[in-house]
Amino acid sequence: MSEQLVWWRNAVVYQIYPKSFADGNGDGVGDLSGAASRLDYLQALGVDAVWFSPIFPSPQCDGGYDVSDYRDIDPLFGTIADAERFIQEAHKRRIRVILDVVPNHSSIEHPFFIEAMKTSPGSAAWQRFHCVQGKGANGELPPNNWQSIFGGIAWTQIRNETGAPTGWWYLHLFDSGQPDLNWNHPDVVKEFDDTLRFWFDRGVDGIRIDVAQGMVKQAGYPDVKDVNDATLLDPHARPYFDQPEVHDIYRRWRKIADSYDAPRVFVAEAWLDTPEKRARYLRADELHTGFNFDLLTAEWNAEAWKRIITDSIAADALVGAPTTWVTENHDVRRSPTRYGGRVVHRQVATPQHLALGRVRALAAMHTILALPGTTYLFNGQELGLEEVIDLDDAQRQDPHFHRTRGEHLGRDGCRVPMPWSRTGVSLGFGPPTGSQPWLSQPASWAMLSVEAQEASPSSSLNRTRRAIEVRRTQQALLCGALEWDNDRCKDGVVVFRRVFAGHPTVVCIANMGSTTTPAVAGDLLCTSGDLVGGEVPPNTTAWFATRD
Ligand code: GLC
Repeated sequence: MSEQLVWWRNAVVYQIYPKSFADGNGDGVGDLSGAASRLDYLQALGVDAVWFSPIFPSPQCDGGYDVSDYRDIDPLFGTIADAERFIQEAHKRRIRVILDVVPNHSSIEHPFFIEAMKTSPGSAAWQRFHCVQGKGANGELPPNNWQSIFGGIAWTQIRNETGAPTGWWYLHLFDSGQPDLNWNHPDVVKEFDDTLRFWFDRGVDGIRIDVAQGMVKQAGYPDVKDVNDATLLDPHARPYFDQPEVHDIYRRWRKIADSYDAPRVFVAEAWLDTPEKRARYLRADELHTGFNFDLLTAEWNAEAWKRIITDSIAADALVGAPTTWVTENHDVRRSPTRYGGRVVHRQVATPQHLALGRVRALAAMHTILALPGTTYLFNGQELGLEEVIDLDDAQRQDPHFHRTRGEHLGRDGCRVPMPWSRTGVSLGFGPPTGSQPWLSQPASWAMLSVEAQEASPSSSLNRTRRAIEVRRTQQALLCGALEWDNDRCKDGVVVFRRVFAGHPTVVCIANMGSTTTPAVAGDLLCTSGDLVGGEVPPNTTAWFATRD
């Protein structure tokens, strides 16, 4: 099959959190013109595709994951013309573009919801949502015990034009500004058919599907057994997730994607508790790929990594899908903070903790870049940015923080704008005369900025570039099978080979243990840290080319 048809099977995809990547107009918030001005940077980094978190019009109650118009661009980020220009410029550099569609819920400012609010609950307009009569004599109690993933009850009581409660409630698995859509309604189905075609027609190469295991809710809205077990990160079979009918939606969408030349591609964001369940979304007539979050939540531990890698590849192979690897995104704490040790709630990581965490994070990134399948990097991951724990509460925007009254710090700490230069009001995130960034950057990020790291050959940025470049040129890393070196997988060390006939074998040694481990005979292709006496020290991943 041509490269064009299968690019998504072994790509490096770079996630742009649009508010935090680059600010072109100087208002303190990232945008499309800023992102376009950094395309040369992305090309030099060597990524195959970018994925934008949502850029559609939105009241921004959940960082754009509350969409009021799926077929336009939020003025905060630019215009449709800016999006088209970005796509064109990206394509010129052989970088593909993935957008993020949010089909489980819309925004309370979406025309469907505005129309519903003008009518009485139970009306035809309300059928596009989950509008249900409450319990109790006057419907004053929510219809069931479902909890919002952001905290609190998952239902909001609908009020009439005088503000009086109606006894009817609408469902929102996330914030009250994100009403769940009713996928049994033909208007909802059409809305997304039209949306996919709209963006595919504009040259978008793929779509990330937000909360892809959602959308279908069990009839009758039965209670969940344990209300304390209703988090997104710890999924279990629930009456609102992973219902069998959700697969019908994807079979329909696949036909739309396949009707394009070149076929467009999907990546599912589906938090599921086993690789086998995830694989069901990746059957040949459904979605092409899905995020594998198992490493995203794993500790820095060789046995855990080996088990996850083995199980993930085995499950995805059952349906012929490539596996994906993720160690950071906009929903979890940055990896240097996670890998340096335990940081509880507001506790700020010590410099020693962060130094260790950064070394491990770079080794982890080298490990996932050596695995078969598609690797996702989150903007700033290449710089080794840490989670910003001590943001001012007044700056925090995440509904998870607000709905839990600060019990959960939320996800703002991984969304702090990128530092591009050593100096300036926003460390180069925006123009020199621009505003302060929407979340404050730590002063120490001057030294982590792109400018500072460009200057040092052994920086996280330069090592990441090198790893991606090597990955592109080593056929075994792109297409080779993975074989474990079981004899060497002990004492905290993970060793695997990538083997492709007629090409050098690549051996990846990830040392997650506490003592130095021998290298292999062969050429050192790249390493996350310097070897010591020719051996791979703890918290380091190195790749070697061998001809055996
Ligand atoms: C996904 C997004 C997350 C968002 C949620 C609701 O999990 O990654 O950022 O808050 O969906 O749309």
